[in-house]
Amino acid sequence: MSKKVFSKVFLSGVQPSGKPHIGNYFGAMKQFVDLQNEHEGYVFIADYHALHSLRNPKEMNANIKSILLDYLAIGLDPEKVTFFKQSDVSEHTELAWIFDTVTTMPFLMRAHAFKDAQAKNKEIDVGTFNYPVLMAADILMYGPDMVPVGADQKQHVEIARDIAEKFNNVYGQGDQIFKLPEPMILKDMAIVPGTDGRKMSKSYNNTIPLFAEYEEIKKCVMSIVTDSSGGIPQNVYAIHKLFRSEDELKKIYEEKSGKYKELKEMLVEDIEKFIAPLREKRKEFEKDIPGALAILKAGGEKAKKIAGAKMEEVREKIGVNVY
Ligand code: ADP
Ligand code: TRP
Repeated sequence: MSKKVFSKVFLSGVQPSGKPHIGNYFGAMKQFVDLQNEHEGYVFIADYHALHSLRNPKEMNANIKSILLDYLAIGLDPEKVTFFKQSDVSEHTELAWIFDTVTTMPFLMRAHAFKDAQAKNKEIDVGTFNYPVLMAADILMYGPDMVPVGADQKQHVEIARDIAEKFNNVYGQGDQIFKLPEPMILKDMAIVPGTDGRKMSKSYNNTIPLFAEYEEIKKCVMSIVTDSSGGIPQNVYAIHKLFRSEDELKKIYEEKSGKYKELKEMLVEDIEKFIAPLREKRKEFEKDIPGALAILKAGGEKAKKIAGAKMEEVREKIGVNVY
């Protein structure tokens, strides 16, 4: 007998790093909307995280507003989910500092993101090195059971788990001060491929934006890289299966084997059917930006109360609470 469980908590953050694409949507964003009806949820805009790559204040400001509208448009409901901005809850950075003091450098040096930066011989700022620690603070502050993210964030959630364990060992005296979180990755959606067949990513220039207008969708789809074998264009199919059942698609792709242009045109129409209503909703929210900002601000106030209470407990545990 299946019974709905409402006792679980989910949390996730998203960087305001530009227009979201369908990889972000199917890999992460959609899950928040699906989960909000069944579970208590926290979703936030990770603006402080984004600082490691975004140093243009105008762009930062615009991106925050833009992602706020994106989330409202996909149906995130602030009545159900605590939806806020990381920088409105200064407790996150405070907790990150405390976690810094129980986290070793060799441990953080094993993080993929750090190793990638090192391999590229980048001048690595401390914020990039410390990125997983702030993320651990974001997560552990609210005690979620699950953290819905794309596969590339799995290691970060594991690091948060290790930091929770370490902190509990050092200061818990048998209590579990921080709950150990689990990453939640939908198997089929873990890596949505881009128009060049690699993982869809803003940094690869291979995306289909989630709120693209018809002409833009067309341009993106027509640019999908296909081989010259004349059979089934794998890169087209891999994206198409997000929008239509595989049973249907297999038949269509067999019938139209080799007809790349026709298959692409069909994909354009399927994506348009899916995106058009989202685009319209976003335009509605765009008409009232102060209203949208008020929602975000109220979410921040709610989150700050919860984070404030957690920090009281943490300060008590580490011994700095003398009054
Ligand atoms: P990008 O690589 O485009 O910069 P982000 O790093 O901003 O994407 O990722 C935001 C969220 O979307 C994360 O949870 C991430 O794991 C997820 N995500 C990003 N790209 C994909 C993809 N191609 N497939 C599935 N999930 C993705
Ligand atoms: N690092 C995540 C990303 O780039 C964003 C993020 C920040 C996050 N804090 C988080 C995700 C906490 C989940 C939980 O996508």
